[in-house]
Amino acid sequence: MELCKISEPDDGTLEKARLELASGRLVAFPTETVYGLGADAENEVAVAAIYTAKGRPSRNPLIVHLADMSLVERYAELTPEARMLAERFWPGPLTLVLKRKADCRASSLVSAGGETIALRVPRHPVAQRLLAGYGRGVAAPSANRSGRISPTQAAHVVEEFSGLSEGPSLILNGGATQIGIESTVLDCSGDMVSILRSGSVTEEEIRAVLSVKTYMAEDDGSTLLAPGMLASHYAPQAPVRLNITEVYPGEALLAFGVTTLTAEVMRNLSPSGNLEEAAHVLYACLRELDHLHPKTIAVMPIPENDIGVAINDRLRRAAANK
Ligand code: TXA
Ligand code: MG
Repeated sequence: MELCKISEPDDGTLEKARLELASGRLVAFPTETVYGLGADAENEVAVAAIYTAKGRPSRNPLIVHLADMSLVERYAELTPEARMLAERFWPGPLTLVLKRKADCRASSLVSAGGETIALRVPRHPVAQRLLAGYGRGVAAPSANRSGRISPTQAAHVVEEFSGLSEGPSLILNGGATQIGIESTVLDCSGDMVSILRSGSVTEEEIRAVLSVKTYMAEDDGSTLLAPGMLASHYAPQAPVRLNITEVYPGEALLAFGVTTLTAEVMRNLSPSGNLEEAAHVLYACLRELDHLHPKTIAVMPIPENDIGVAINDRLRRAAANK
């Protein structure tokens, strides 16, 4: 494959992107969380190409992205709880895992052969414009090779797939993604709703929509149930050391808030201690530090509240043994 090009998302390019999708090719596009690697969700061969391009295990299902709620009925059964959540948080960084409809038109590969399907209506204007003109769902995992750091800039997508024979035929530019961390994934396919992956939509916000009876809390962040939530994920090449209080020679420092710690190579996720800013720059900072091949990336403690829960979840997986 020739090196995939970054394209500005004007009307002509968006139309070209839709034609690429309709012909079974892959298109990378920005969402408000991270960049996605999209394929027509109803085209088995195209969805299979996502798994090949990412080197993704086939047991790890994909999120199908929709322009709006009217497309849900093409694919899934919406429970009353799921409808309330969708009405509150869509378009936005929330993914709902639902029962597939009996006559679901999506490829069974997006469900990894199972009976559920994950749906999301993203709110990024480029994703919205792409999907609005398409009329079908677009399956899109994060546009990185399996197990690696998710891309939050178009250039990261190029980095992931350059030199490989498979990858997106087009990358739509949307600048740096606003949130910077993947969507919250909720299992709504049973009687109870549970969080499979933390994100910027927090547990408190979800609880505020649901009755006590329908929400099932997790014990802690380490036992999430999404099939793709492997212990090691979102990982740079360098080992990652968490909750550090000192920095050793040869280590790169990933700081947070005001600190007296220093290192030859360091980034601060948010000098003012703002968690949203930290999430926004987290993956770009990890990539930059990783490029310098440090002995270890040493990460200061991050508060475990709001989007800090999701930041810590991703950092734990980045630090897990490969
Ligand atoms: O923010 C996001 O969610 C981004 C953007 C592109 O939308 N996408 C993303 O996709 O992070 P991916 O494939 O990297 O992560 C999807 C997560 C995985 O952990 C996967 O196992 C889980 O969602 N998932 C997908 N379908 C599922 C299903 N039917 N049941 C349970 N978990 C599912
Ligand atoms: Mg991913």
